[in-house]
Amino acid sequence: MPIALPRVFRPTENNLARLAARLRRGDIVGVPSETVYGLAADALDADACARIFAAKGRPSTDPLIVHLASVRDLATVAVANPAALALARACWPGPLTLVLPKQACIPDLVTAGRATVAVRVPDHPLFRKLIRLAGRPLAAPSANPFGYISPTAAAHVRDGLAGTALRAVLDGGECRVGVESTIVDLTDPARPRLLRPGGLSVESIEAVLGLSVIRPRSSETRVRAGVAAPAPGMLTQHYSPRTPLTLHRRIDMADLAKLPPDAAVLLLRRPAASGTDPRVYWLSERGELAEIARHLFARLRALDKAGWSHLHAEVPAGSEGLAPAIRDRLTRAAAKR
Ligand code: TXA
Ligand code: MG
Repeated sequence: MPIALPRVFRPTENNLARLAARLRRGDIVGVPSETVYGLAADALDADACARIFAAKGRPSTDPLIVHLASVRDLATVAVANPAALALARACWPGPLTLVLPKQACIPDLVTAGRATVAVRVPDHPLFRKLIRLAGRPLAAPSANPFGYISPTAAAHVRDGLAGTALRAVLDGGECRVGVESTIVDLTDPARPRLLRPGGLSVESIEAVLGLSVIRPRSSETRVRAGVAAPAPGMLTQHYSPRTPLTLHRRIDMADLAKLPPDAAVLLLRRPAASGTDPRVYWLSERGELAEIARHLFARLRALDKAGWSHLHAEVPAGSEGLAPAIRDRLTRAAAKR
């Protein structure tokens, strides 16, 4: 029997109303955001959220992000503090998730039993509209099978979660940012801690707070699956193509000459003289970080499907802007299972 594909809905008023009704009934729905596509359910309904974990094959120890339509709703799901409010007002809607003490209405399943909840207001008008129409906060992890490359287009969600309980994906076009939100733990507002680098630079967060954000030591973020993690979701291996991936600081034409014909190369920028070597791909014309982030997951996914025996990718250096987020995703994607 052919595997049932979830249906992709165009964003008409009528379809938005239908999808909101599904969410109110406790169904899961694929939704666009500015970062990556999410797999959404009513955040106040534990049974609905259990369907997210089942469809993704996600361990119940990994908590979900709760999405709101507006900063004004923050107090309904979390206990805010002045630092959190300042960040929320300055950066939302946007690719920033705050971890704060949770309100009692948030089910334990959503927070994996923690006393804290991760929340954000996404910068995608269709996602916010769906939250408003559903009339409740929506829990949503990235809409990929657990461990695989995150989706940045509706078709990625449809193909990746075919054969699961997911029946509907809202098409909101390609994701503008392309990597997940930056996660900051603000449970102690005097000691903000970075839990995941992402689509908003740490510098811009520090500029709002007037404080430096504590970065995890790399040993803390490279926790292997199955070993208790200091922060959930910090698995060494994640976002991974099935094709083996090796990372390089730089790949030049001399390196290329040594590679076999069935290995592909993913560069950060268009090479000056690529010729017509069919093994060579790039993420950005001029090596711009925002463009690299936007194309990263879709390009990895396409290369993974193309039947190459091995992938070689360049990683950006530096701590500015989106470089840490891109490096984080590539490093986890290349980690050995
Ligand atoms: O951009 C994004 O953040 C996307 C879109 C859909 O909003 N969502 C996303 O969700 O990336 P997910 O589930 O793939 O990653 C959420 C991360 C996980 O690593 C999870 O462990 C962490 O957030 N997280 C959630 N609640 C937490 C909490 N209370 N404390 C610490 N970490 C938390
Ligand atoms: Mg994810």
